[in-house]
Amino acid sequence: MNRIKKVPVKKIGVIERYQEFLPVSDRTPIISLNEGNTPLILSEALPSVLGLKGLKIYFKFEGLNPTGSFKDRGMTMAVSKALEEGATSVMCASTGNTSASAAAFASRCGMKCYVLIPEGKIAKGKLLQAFRYGAKVVVVKGNFDDALELVKKITATHPIQIVNSVNPYRIEGQKTAAFEICDDLGDAPDYHAIPVGNAGNITAYWRGYREYKEKGHSDTLPKMLGFQAAGAAPIVLNRVVKNPETIATAIRIGNPASWASALKARDESGGLIESVTDDEIRWAYRFLAEREGIFAEPASAAAVAGVVNLAKRNYFKKGSRIACTLTGSGLKDPEFALSFDDRIESVEPSIDAVLKVIGTVPPARTKKSSVR
Ligand code: F0G
Repeated sequence: MNRIKKVPVKKIGVIERYQEFLPVSDRTPIISLNEGNTPLILSEALPSVLGLKGLKIYFKFEGLNPTGSFKDRGMTMAVSKALEEGATSVMCASTGNTSASAAAFASRCGMKCYVLIPEGKIAKGKLLQAFRYGAKVVVVKGNFDDALELVKKITATHPIQIVNSVNPYRIEGQKTAAFEICDDLGDAPDYHAIPVGNAGNITAYWRGYREYKEKGHSDTLPKMLGFQAAGAAPIVLNRVVKNPETIATAIRIGNPASWASALKARDESGGLIESVTDDEIRWAYRFLAEREGIFAEPASAAAVAGVVNLAKRNYFKKGSRIACTLTGSGLKDPEFALSFDDRIESVEPSIDAVLKVIGTVPPARTKKSSVR
């Protein structure tokens, strides 16, 4: 019998792994939680559901980062550089994930962390993370855009480092996800689908893909496909949205900071930025969990919803490879997860009672039949 060999695994984060591509030096203290190195998971069910079996759809599951979202890639850079430059505190506005990540990395190096979040519109898990990592949480009676304006103004006049994605080190760190995808696939995918909120991540991926190609690590570039929620789609509508609304609270943003560079990513790559409805997001969210075994948060599902829409319009060339970033973990938003009509049934501890509730059990598989 073959035994699986134990291999020594050196746990390192994105700065050590990709330092030649990042603005760091021997003097940079590396504040890391071994972020990155997230799995690229081949879709089992989506191509056949779409009737496009030749498509290869890969999910880059960023929910498996240390704080459960892609923000850790940028935050290891932003906090390391803040420390190098002598900062003792950091601040961000956030729809939740940035605040969780900022709080974690700040706690790791003894920095103070201040987070400004929009009232009532942040997933419970993210709020709890900010508290437990020891951040000072301020609830702003307004939306994310209002909170970001405040953070920009406060950090301009106080000795506090801003760690929103207007901090260039955030984008630098986040571009490493594109490197990992190229490393895994052996080249860039044909398309890259991604949810768009403040538009930092689409900017970061496009930079990553371009740099990797320039340095000879990949031969091609993907078309960038960005997806906003229909109620919070300023880039699609080409105007600021004053009162953005969507179930995907992470991307409930009406005036993205990286608007211009998102347009550049779209146009230089020959891609597109479209909107998806909340119902389409809900469908994709459930599909990911119930058919792919991947529990991602609603904003992440926006990218999948967008891919579904495009596939229905025959947008993709036959046999294409599509990478799809699933930005955060579904565990962050238990309230949304519980908003469907699931029934919890309590029964007496008897076999009959349990069998009655579970109903008809599917027959056992014969040796010949496939798993699906
Ligand atoms: N998906 C998730 C889960 C997010 O948390 C965010 C952004 C995005 C997608 C969009 O990424 O802003 O780079 O276009 N969350 C920010 C936050 C705004 O405060 O956590 P983006």
